[in-house]
Amino acid sequence: MAGKPHALCIPYPAQGHVNPMLKLAKLLHHKGFCITFVNTHFNHRRLIKSHGIQALSALPDFRFASIPDGLPPSEADATQDVPSLCLSIPNTCLEPLCELIREVNSSNSPPVNCLVVDGVMTFALKAAEAFRLPAVALWTSSACGLLTCMLFQRLVDLGITPSKEEDGYLERVMDWVPGVKDGLRLRDFPSFVRTTDPDDIMLNYMLREMEAIKGAKAILLNTFDALEEEVIGALEEMLPPPLYTVGPLNLSLDRLPDSSVKAIGSSLWKEEDECIRWLDDKEPASVLYVNFGSITVATIEQLTEFAWGLADSGSPFLWVIRPDIVFGESAMLPEEFHVATRERSMVSSWIPQERVLRHAAIGGFLTHSGWNSTLESISSGVPVICWPFFADQQTNCRFSCREWGVGVEIDSEVKRGEVEAVVREVMNGEKGKRMKEKAVEWKKKAVAAAATASDVNLDRVINEVM
Ligand code: UDX
Repeated sequence: MAGKPHALCIPYPAQGHVNPMLKLAKLLHHKGFCITFVNTHFNHRRLIKSHGIQALSALPDFRFASIPDGLPPSEADATQDVPSLCLSIPNTCLEPLCELIREVNSSNSPPVNCLVVDGVMTFALKAAEAFRLPAVALWTSSACGLLTCMLFQRLVDLGITPSKEEDGYLERVMDWVPGVKDGLRLRDFPSFVRTTDPDDIMLNYMLREMEAIKGAKAILLNTFDALEEEVIGALEEMLPPPLYTVGPLNLSLDRLPDSSVKAIGSSLWKEEDECIRWLDDKEPASVLYVNFGSITVATIEQLTEFAWGLADSGSPFLWVIRPDIVFGESAMLPEEFHVATRERSMVSSWIPQERVLRHAAIGGFLTHSGWNSTLESISSGVPVICWPFFADQQTNCRFSCREWGVGVEIDSEVKRGEVEAVVREVMNGEKGKRMKEKAVEWKKKAVAAAATASDVNLDRVINEVM
């Protein structure tokens, strides 16, 4: 271990950020780095609960550490409130992170010599500065998500956000967006622009983060060039730090030989894998997979509309209903729905998603368009039905549907009739067939990128920056 370079990896404390950061950390470990992976105490406890303490403490050169997030301690196994975290992190985490670096440097481990900082955890760049260490940022979302967040300041300067919320304001087209030839409607921007409040926590957090990320020595993107070429080109014109596309990280990780590091899990919920056996009995491409990620909340009315839409579609489906998906209530669906679909459905609370998406029985994915879900779906050649909830999901949805040809959107006001019609079209119709072909084309390009350009780019950033 002595003499190895040592990277400290600091993800934003949410599932959709911990997953890609852990993948990058494993790739860096494979390339010779010693790793300290820094979670919040809250997520560290949840990882131990899901995977066992042994899994997280077995390896001397791949360690887990934790720092406080500033929120009141909680034993809950539920997603934390994002605005509360965004308020507390910048005020809480810097000193504990510096203390951790001092501790590591005075232990038997090799001293820390670079930081890998989540693109929305830029407080950590200040720690890098204090210790005179290089820091790279991992942007865990899409390049189109980064581009649109980078344009928030322009929307503010133009007086478009905070908005007046006049009729149709979300349809207004920004025809000046670089790298996107038909422009983008305001509704295609990350949801944080949909505010009337100049003091909105998320809008202001993102404005500050987008300025601060420019202080990173490099920005790593979990995407691949073929998918987002023009957007990446536009970003290169806007950003001082060099950009390195290193995705899809899930496919790069697949290429590594099995090892105890590769096996470390990152799910914050305990995974139920009975669904894999259930899928084994199903016809190829016959099952619709439904999952809205780790943060989305829905009303019981919305879930009920989805339930009857799925029931009426006639397709077999695997539906993951997170225990905390309905805010403050249990997500109980009508008994008649379970009776009506028992023969052709499975409902779980958290599953190994990447394995599910790779399963031959999966023919479509009804998703909230979180970036990891979108990229994992594209990497598996599976078309998507998009029901974006917040953050970059609106942007990922628009690109999935309009630019990449793999998606179709469901209205945010879910209606069972629309759900039924869209599921029928995607699973059995002509449009679904074309989307599937397109998804398979992207999958081939994604696999090729992971084996070539993205791997080369990771070597470059290691050698040139880290
Ligand atoms: C959030 C944001 O919503 C998303 O838009 C942003 O790009 C990243 O952070 P989340 O909402 O959880 O993430 O969605 P997503 O990005 O899709 O990440 C979810 C991750 O959890 C995926 O890697 C998925 O494979 C995993 N997952 C989800 C499981 O392993 N099992 C499940 O049952 C559900």
